[in-house]
Amino acid sequence: MTTEGDPPDRRSTFADIDVSRPNVARVYDAFLGGKNNFAADREFVEKALQVAPKAPLAALANRAFLRRVVRHLVGEAGITQLLDIGSGLPTQGNVSEVAHEINEAVRVVHVDNDPVVYSHSKALLADARTTDIVLGDVRRPAEILADPAVRALIDFGRPAGLLLIAILHHIDDHDNPGRIAAELRDAMAPGSYLAISSFHMPGPEFPELRAATIEGEKLLMGTLGSGRWREYGEILSWFGDWELLEPGLVSLMEWRPPVRGRIRRDEIYHSFYGGVARKT
Ligand SMILES: C[S@@+](CC[C@H](N)C(=O)[O-])C[C@H]1O[C@@H](n2cnc3c(N)ncnc32)[C@H](O)[C@@H]1O
Repeated sequence: MTTEGDPPDRRSTFADIDVSRPNVARVYDAFLGGKNNFAADREFVEKALQVAPKAPLAALANRAFLRRVVRHLVGEAGITQLLDIGSGLPTQGNVSEVAHEINEAVRVVHVDNDPVVYSHSKALLADARTTDIVLGDVRRPAEILADPAVRALIDFGRPAGLLLIAILHHIDDHDNPGRIAAELRDAMAPGSYLAISSFHMPGPEFPELRAATIEGEKLLMGTLGSGRWREYGEILSWFGDWELLEPGLVSLMEWRPPVRGRIRRDEIYHSFYGGVARKT
C-alpha cells in the first residue's frame, strides 16, 4: 500500500512486508490481544508462552505504564507535544488516544520502522491534524529529527515529551542505544520529558530468573532478531543527566500505580523496568 504524496523513499516499503515470519510489532499486538497479526506471529506467541507463560502480562504492564506516563505528561506536566518512537500498531490505548482524551490539541508524532505499522496508522490518521506517523528508524535519530512531518508538528524550541517505550531493547549493542538516546536528548528543549521502558535483566540475587531470562533472550534473538535484557545501570544511563521523576527507574508496576495494592514480585516484576526524567 502506498499513499499518493508519500515521499519517494516510502514508496517501496511494502515490498518488505513478510508475513511468513514473526515480527516485533505484530507479536506485541498478539500479546495485547489485538487482531493485527498473522499465523507466524501467533505461532511465535505459542512458543514464547512455553518459555515464559506470563509474557502477555508483561505486554499489558508495559501498555499500562505507557498510559500512566502519557496521562502524567499531558494531564499534570502540561506537555502539548509528544514524539513517540517505536509507536507500534495503533491498538487500543496508544499514545495519541490517551493524550487526546485529556487535551485534543496535543500534537503527536508516532515513528516506527515497520511498514505495516506505518500504513495502518497512516490510514487511521488520514483526517488528523494534530497527529501523524513517520516511517523512521530510531538507529538514525538525525533523520527522524530532520523529518519534515516531525518538524511540522513538533517545535523543538519548546518542551516536549519523548517516548522510547519498549523500543530500545530491540536495538542491539552494536547499534549503541546509549548513543541513540543521547542524540535524541540533545535535540530536546529544557523542560522536556523522556520516558523509557525496557526489558531488564534480573539482578544476580535471582540466579534462576537470570538463567530463564537468558533463554528468553535467545528465543527472541533467534526468531524475531531482536530483544535484549539490559542491566539496571545501562538503562539508567539512557536518561543522561536529566532529573528522574519519583519513583525513579523501577519495575513498570511500581511506576505510580493507580492503586497501591499488593504487587506480585514475579518474573514480570523483575524483567521490565521504566522511568521518566525531565531536562532541567
Ligand atoms: C514492543 S512495540 C512497542 C509499542 C509501543 N511503544 C508500546 O510500548 O506499547 C516496539 C515497536 O518498536 C518498533 N521498532 C523496532 N525497532 C525499531 C527501529 N529500529 N526503529 C523504529 N521502530 C522500531 C517495532 O516495529 C514496534 O512497533
